[in-house]
Amino acid sequence: MKNSALLLPLLKVQSLQVNYGAVQILFDVSIDVYRGEIVSIIGPNGAGKSTLIKAIIGLHPPQTGQILFNSQNITHTPPHLIPQLGIGYVPQGRVVFASMTVMENLEMGAFLLPKHQRKNAIAKVCTQFPRLAQRYAVPAGQLSGGEQQMLAIGRALMLNPKLILLDEPSLGLSPKYVEMVFDSLLELKRQGHTLLMVEQNAARALALADRGYALELGRNRFTDTGQALLNNKDVRRMYLGG
Ligand SMILES: Nc1ncnc2c1ncn2[C@@H]1O[C@H](COP(=O)(O)OP(=O)(O)O)[C@@H](O)[C@H]1O
Ligand SMILES: [Mg+2]
Repeated sequence: MKNSALLLPLLKVQSLQVNYGAVQILFDVSIDVYRGEIVSIIGPNGAGKSTLIKAIIGLHPPQTGQILFNSQNITHTPPHLIPQLGIGYVPQGRVVFASMTVMENLEMGAFLLPKHQRKNAIAKVCTQFPRLAQRYAVPAGQLSGGEQQMLAIGRALMLNPKLILLDEPSLGLSPKYVEMVFDSLLELKRQGHTLLMVEQNAARALALADRGYALELGRNRFTDTGQALLNNKDVRRMYLGG
């Protein structure tokens, strides 16, 4: 790749408008994510955070606007073609296959890999999340909430995505697991992954982020470095409870 290409955003969302039926949910939303960054999108319940992530992965195609990944226009790419582009998705709500074991859940994430590469991919994730290795034969439905979230993240890592999209990774977890999940996201960044996450836990998400975007009722409201947003008195008042 030419050096100049590295300076372009890995993901560029440009002036996105998304409707559900007659109701407009996103109005002219734009975000950039550069290689190696953690970018956090914050906003109250109903701000349109999940809708934005779903638009990126083709679940809610936009009315207008563009989504560029690696400078390629992916705006109308159907969801089933997204993983092989190098985009991993961890949906809201710790979505795992409850009756399948930890190992089988990881295998589901690896199905696009040639058979001989699957073992290595699973071993790598088990090194990253030793807790999953200990529990590999347990049905995912019997894991704690935090373990299920790690499994959902581990499954998204199977194809070694360039960009990982996470929808509310800390939602509903006990404080101990909130720490573990956020620590694991920093570790993924250290390993060279790029992360875009959506969080209602705005203070933690901004503290972790290189840059952040605050949405309000489906529109861009603030954007800056994570630290500057944390220090911004309007952001504190509107998003951080004072
Ligand atoms: N499938 C849907 N059909 C109609 N409206 C929806 C649907 N999903 C979400 N909405 C509405 O879109 C708005 C944004 O929702 P969402 O993107 O889930 O917000 P957030 O993730 O920030 O909480 C909300 O007003 C919500 O009620
Ligand atoms: Mg949501």
